[in-house]
Amino acid sequence: MKVLVVGGGGREHSLCWKLSQSPMLGQLYCAPGNPGIEAIAQTFAIAADDVLALASFAADEGVDLTVVGPEVPLTLGLADSLAAAGRPVFGPGRHAAQLEGSKIFAKEFMLRHAIPTAAFEIAESIDEARRAASRFGFPVVLKADGLAAGKGVLIPRDETELEEALSALFTERRFGSSADRVVIEECLEGEEVSLIAVSDGRRVQRFTTAKDYKRIGEGDTGPNTGGMGAHSPSGVLDERAAAKLEADLLQVVLDGMRAEGHPFVGVLYAGLMLTADGPRVLEFNVRFGDPECQPLMLRLAGDLLPVLAAAAAGDFGEERLAFDEGAAACIVLASEGYPGAPAKGAEIEGLEVDTGLDTALFHAGTTRSEDGAVVVAGGRVLNACARGAHLEEALAAAYELADRVHWPGKVLRRDIGRRVLEGGTAE
Ligand code: AMP
Ligand code: GLY
Repeated sequence: MKVLVVGGGGREHSLCWKLSQSPMLGQLYCAPGNPGIEAIAQTFAIAADDVLALASFAADEGVDLTVVGPEVPLTLGLADSLAAAGRPVFGPGRHAAQLEGSKIFAKEFMLRHAIPTAAFEIAESIDEARRAASRFGFPVVLKADGLAAGKGVLIPRDETELEEALSALFTERRFGSSADRVVIEECLEGEEVSLIAVSDGRRVQRFTTAKDYKRIGEGDTGPNTGGMGAHSPSGVLDERAAAKLEADLLQVVLDGMRAEGHPFVGVLYAGLMLTADGPRVLEFNVRFGDPECQPLMLRLAGDLLPVLAAAAAGDFGEERLAFDEGAAACIVLASEGYPGAPAKGAEIEGLEVDTGLDTALFHAGTTRSEDGAVVVAGGRVLNACARGAHLEEALAAAYELADRVHWPGKVLRRDIGRRVLEGGTAE
């Protein structure tokens, strides 16, 4: 099979790594890819959101399956364009991608299908937003309706912070038209966990559990990032509870989408808060989590390609995901300044480490300088990943790999997984 992976981050590197091990694979393409992906796939300098160019590339090359990594091309209709060109695609069409692309679409969908989520109101002006916020008390959660690169959620704790948040959303227009409408919702308390599954439009197959760490600072402090590390199992949701959520929640979403005339094919990711009153959906994503995808790829026991190809064809048939018994971890190596303005351009040393079968060093924000050296090009730069018999072993091996790579200004959290290990809640 000829397979195209769209994207160029650590998530896509891990997808390429897994797909490249498939006996079904003929040719692996990646657009735009990165210097790490170059070693295992043929990369093309087409931006991940250039829907027209990607669709014509897939048609010209006779690509048998396109796997879309990031959400933006999905919300722009890449899957629809590929389908129109007769090219199979693993990823939802534009309408279904609104589960991630519009928080209001997602909340209204959850209301229609009785899916548990935080109570909310929708506001179109600063006055409406202020009124809605007063109903919920502090802290209160404000979410820009549209995509905001993971930064569109604000959680003011008092009147002063609320006024700052309202001003950022409605006056400064920091999130542009993404905040034309804003969701105001109750703040939930509990442990967060990601539930990730693939769907063929009719059925879901859940990945084993994973947890990511969103704050930049140790002890879960400082601003939110895309994720500074992840591990699987999650340690906070056991497999039995996850299986129940697969049936009671993910399958309900799928059935709802199909009933509304928009079958959902691709990755369905529910970000959950495990509250004292039970699990509540914080958000849906329509793609693999980054960095949750990376440890999940390490834990996948069988072949991923036939499962994704069957999903794209609309029927899993006999294809099933299977997982290793052990654990896997991912430590994100970021550049100083992230998640604000990360420093760029430093040359990275130590990339030639021998990763073997149980570890992987995935590239995220890297590029090649004119003289061919691999240099820092983004906030999250590399992902040091490892698997082990249990979480402690996987984390130790991932940190050992993380410490073998260097550049001036490398930043990482030393406490990924620590609370789960100390709490003794890991499965
Ligand atoms: P989202 O993009 O909706 O997942 O929001 C990003 C982050 O904001 C989540 O991972 C949570 O940490 C936090 N968050 C979102 N909604 C809520 C809520 N209703 N209560 C508490 N925290 C929330
Ligand atoms: N790691 C969180 C996300 O991919 O949305």
